Amino acid sequence: MKRTIDLGAGVLETIGAVADRERLEAYVVGGFVRDALLGTQGKDVDIVVLGDGIAFAGKVAEELGNRSLVTFPKFGTAMLPYNDGKIEFVGARQERYEPGSRKPSVETGTLKDDLLRRDFTVNAMAAALNSGSRGMLADPLGGRKDLKAKILRTPLDPVKTFDDDPLRILRAMRFAAQLEFRIDPAALRAATDMRDRLGIVSQERISEEFLKLLSAPQPSTGLFPMQETGLMNVVFPEIAALSGVEQRKEYHHKDVFLHTLKVVDNISRETGNVWLRMAALLHDIAKPRTKAFKEGTGWTFHGHEEIGARMVKPIFRRMKFPLEHVLYVEKIVRLHLRPMALVDEEVKDSAVRRLLFEAGEDIDDLMKLCRADITSKNPRLVRQVRQNYEMVARKMAEVEEKDRMRNWRPALNGDEIMEACGIGPGPLVGKLKQAVVDAILDGHIPNDHDAALQYLHSIKNKVLE
Ligand code: CTP
Repeated sequence: MKRTIDLGAGVLETIGAVADRERLEAYVVGGFVRDALLGTQGKDVDIVVLGDGIAFAGKVAEELGNRSLVTFPKFGTAMLPYNDGKIEFVGARQERYEPGSRKPSVETGTLKDDLLRRDFTVNAMAAALNSGSRGMLADPLGGRKDLKAKILRTPLDPVKTFDDDPLRILRAMRFAAQLEFRIDPAALRAATDMRDRLGIVSQERISEEFLKLLSAPQPSTGLFPMQETGLMNVVFPEIAALSGVEQRKEYHHKDVFLHTLKVVDNISRETGNVWLRMAALLHDIAKPRTKAFKEGTGWTFHGHEEIGARMVKPIFRRMKFPLEHVLYVEKIVRLHLRPMALVDEEVKDSAVRRLLFEAGEDIDDLMKLCRADITSKNPRLVRQVRQNYEMVARKMAEVEEKDRMRNWRPALNGDEIMEACGIGPGPLVGKLKQAVVDAILDGHIPNDHDAALQYLHSIKNKVLE
């Protein structure tokens, strides 16, 4: 693996020139170096200087004519927004423990001191920015070797590294998924022992890491060790509880946790939309609560889609996920069994129309989840279920072509209904509107404004009575 990285011409060159002028050593470190060695380029840049990080950041900001430097004197760091990313500055530091005190004092340190305090060896490499040594790698902890071996190892004893910042326990899982690396067994042991320490970390930082994990090419690579170490129970207890919930034996299903991981991996091959992946993660979330045994059938999970949909919002609130995605995830969870219910030869157009209306523009995402939900090992069954979904998709396309149901808005809005019936706002308006919608969905009247108005006039007296 290379001993230098190409820093290109640009802002890193400018930072190097400022370092030369100030007679300071400056390095780019962390994810930027890791990604450069892996052949990708990150948006964010971390800079370490052997000296005062904030003062140096001030000089760089001046040189770039950038007035938006934010400083954090308490932490000795500074942040400069740049293009669509950011540049962070820190002076190399070390921690020193006074005898008899458990609280370390943070002091100026060497580059190696600084790298030792980082999370993983693959994130603890530095590339020089000064003109004499530009691009040359400093790798005192064997980061390149671990990058090649695809292993996440902590620079110090993992107990110490995780103790410094317990979020790193979850970061191990996130990087395992994102980079498709293994986690060193000692780090996994420490993660198991120390998982409860994550309790001191802010929910925002936890959720940010979790969503990065879920955005990885194959999220199970991180979700599985989360479960194995017990971390899932700390971070996402509802998911942890899916383990051991047996599905019906005759379908050779795995337990719901393993099934869910498969569904998430399946859908991740089809979409980068992290909220659709979230819907896949949560689609069976109410199975532990709805589990019941029925003689002759086996285990049943009656109503799990509706109860699961209702669990979405409290989960989003606790996890501090952005609430703007709640309705979408709820909808996909709520509807995830409906396409299968349309398989029957006899199924009426009205049932297809209703599902298209309820799913609206998210119908394609819903169908993606349904296809991802096929995880049986029985090839005959898989073929059958796939064919069934194709049939449903064909029926949907037919109905859609006829009735243009997608993004359909009821042909009459509340104002028009009030005007046509000479009534004011109130529950009656909703009742009348529902009657019109039902008539359209059931195919009694065509999906257009005039027909809807005519129908409204024909029923209004009866409803108003
Ligand atoms: N770091 C650390 N411990 C943390 C967070 C960060 O040691 N809890 C160090 C690592 O050296 C890391 C660098 O700070 O590489 C930058 O952190 P961050 O931007 O969070 O991660 P990246 O490695 O840059 O990865 P990504 O951009 O994918 O988040």
